[in-house]
Amino acid sequence: MQAHKDASASADLEYELLPFSPTQAALLADGADSIAAAGGPELPGAAARASAAALRIYRSFNATQRDILRRYSDGHLAVLECSGLLRPQEDPPPSDLPLQQVLENAPECLHLAGRNQILLHLVKHRAFAYDMDNDARLIRLVGNFCGGGLLPRADEHSDNSVELSSHAGLPLGPHTEAPYHCAVEPLDGHSPAPSTLILTARWNPLDEPTCIIPMTPVIDRIGARAALALTSASFDYTRSDSFVAGTGASGRGVSILQFDANGGYALRYNSYRYSLNENASPAAIAAFQALNTQVRCGEVIKITLTPGNALLINNYRALHCRDIIRDNRRLLIRLFGYSRFVSPIVLNEDPLKVKG
Ligand SMILES: [Fe+2]
Repeated sequence: MQAHKDASASADLEYELLPFSPTQAALLADGADSIAAAGGPELPGAAARASAAALRIYRSFNATQRDILRRYSDGHLAVLECSGLLRPQEDPPPSDLPLQQVLENAPECLHLAGRNQILLHLVKHRAFAYDMDNDARLIRLVGNFCGGGLLPRADEHSDNSVELSSHAGLPLGPHTEAPYHCAVEPLDGHSPAPSTLILTARWNPLDEPTCIIPMTPVIDRIGARAALALTSASFDYTRSDSFVAGTGASGRGVSILQFDANGGYALRYNSYRYSLNENASPAAIAAFQALNTQVRCGEVIKITLTPGNALLINNYRALHCRDIIRDNRRLLIRLFGYSRFVSPIVLNEDPLKVKG
């Protein structure tokens, strides 16, 4: 990760900024309020509220805004930043990060999660949860609850081994979101990886950025033959730490890259969980090494999340990563979304829960 650019610079076609007008931001906040008042995205009926709010907002969009939405929803963008959003009033960072159970029910968190759900509907996605990840909840609170940040938490013991997940303060290398069995289409009884992760911040006192690596330039640089080798079942991965105890597993003999009609390709990759399978061919070994090298050299888009913006990351064509957490009060609100092209194995329709 040598070069990086500010998202406000004219990034390539992988990144788009979607500014909301004050009227549109107010419509979005009204919709988020109605979802939060009914209990938030974890409760039945939230998806219908999000869909109705998204339709109201869409009608207020001009042709340029609609074109940006279309490009993202059709799978042709790596990242979409929504800006100009209304911040919840009077919500300064506390002296310490509250308990996770307290935050899960906080009206401000439910509002921001509801807002994320509406933004997913604007790009024709549905918010969902896996049965075996994040305790089967749609809302993921991304914060240093386990330790591992630059400064120890008050309750942190130095001898603790900290999980490598978004509930810790550790740096996380470039990755797409798990699970890694498959993308777009279900496989062997597993639902696909998320199409999108959407993030916003409730608190980010030190403006610590979220980093995104669009993968189209990386794949172009490794070349056609290496890209083809990445479609072979030559790679293994280790189990994710956010999975519910006793569920989820490591994988063997999977591909990294696959052709997909929508957007051209879909990728699954994790710089700290993927390795070469023992049966990998010399061509696959060389391709994996080239990919690792080019990801390290790849252009990084750095975006500072605040309550006034939200970031949709296309999980099939972009990696994301972050540095060690410097301020333990940083709190992001994340939801997963499936695009209209994905057919998951549905366990519950409303709220949508799928087999992982
Ligand atoms: Fe992640």
